Amino acid sequence: MTGTDKGPVVVTGAAGGIGLAYAHAFAKQGRLVAFCDRAERVVEVAEDAGGRASGALGVVMDVADELSVDAAFARIEEEFGMPSVLVNNAALFVDLPFSRWQDIDVETWDRVMAVNLRGPFLCARRALPGMERRGAGRIVNISSTTAHVGGHQRLHYAASKAGVIGFTRALAREVGAFGVTVNAVAPGSTQSEGVRERYPQDMLDRAVAARAIPRAAIPDDLVGAVLFLASDAASFITGQTIVVDGGHVFL
Ligand SMILES: NC(=O)c1ccc[n+]([C@@H]2O[C@H](COP(=O)([O-])OP(=O)(O)OC[C@H]3O[C@@H](n4cnc5c(N)ncnc54)[C@H](O)[C@@H]3O)[C@@H](O)[C@H]2O)c1
Repeated sequence: MTGTDKGPVVVTGAAGGIGLAYAHAFAKQGRLVAFCDRAERVVEVAEDAGGRASGALGVVMDVADELSVDAAFARIEEEFGMPSVLVNNAALFVDLPFSRWQDIDVETWDRVMAVNLRGPFLCARRALPGMERRGAGRIVNISSTTAHVGGHQRLHYAASKAGVIGFTRALAREVGAFGVTVNAVAPGSTQSEGVRERYPQDMLDRAVAARAIPRAAIPDDLVGAVLFLASDAASFITGQTIVVDGGHVFL
């Protein structure tokens, strides 16, 4: 046993979508879970999950902002103690409009990198000292199969999610000696509420048709891989990316 099966869990981007499914799944295991999101509704979402009395704490955190990340972690440590699991799920994704490469302006490019890449860095940097003191920790970064196949009119997003894989590998090498593992999960097209609302149906249908298991993916399909990588059962797995897409991308 390495002890990560018991400690507090931080899930970013947990106000809705797939992040909320991860947070709910950890809470169901009886873990203390910090539901973190830039969106203020995360506080209400955590209340709906039982609130502080049930171990669900809603924390407003902008992962791209160093001060916000520091303040949020200070609050989580005060309420729960040092986190043993960090799920870096927050990303600019459904809120990001489709753009051809020639239409992406520098400001949008930088914002995507700030949220999708700087965000996991800032959160990991804040979580790691506690994990090292504990001698155990799990970081699970959410990438995307877009990193492998390219994304439709999402050059910035695909580049950021490929960056998450490099970040995962490099960080895994640096922190393994302290008992901390760093892995990534790469979902394929998954019908979170934002995707269902905003994505054209023909794009969703094409994703389904490209799979070995030809059905729509839902947020709960991603939960097993994240729970596994966060558990003591995965203590000797690090630097890896698990694709969860019903069998489209084979690595
Ligand atoms: N749904 C898919 O098809 C799919 C496929 C591959 C990868 N992913 C990845 O899975 C994750 C979740 O996907 P989703 O469909 O639920 O996306 P989503 O866009 O619905 O959810 C993202 C969440 O992150 C939050 N967020 C955005 N910027 C933030 C910031 N600066 N600080 C803190 N929180 C912030 C949003 O408020 C939102 O709650 C993302 O990392 C996404 O890139 C999704």
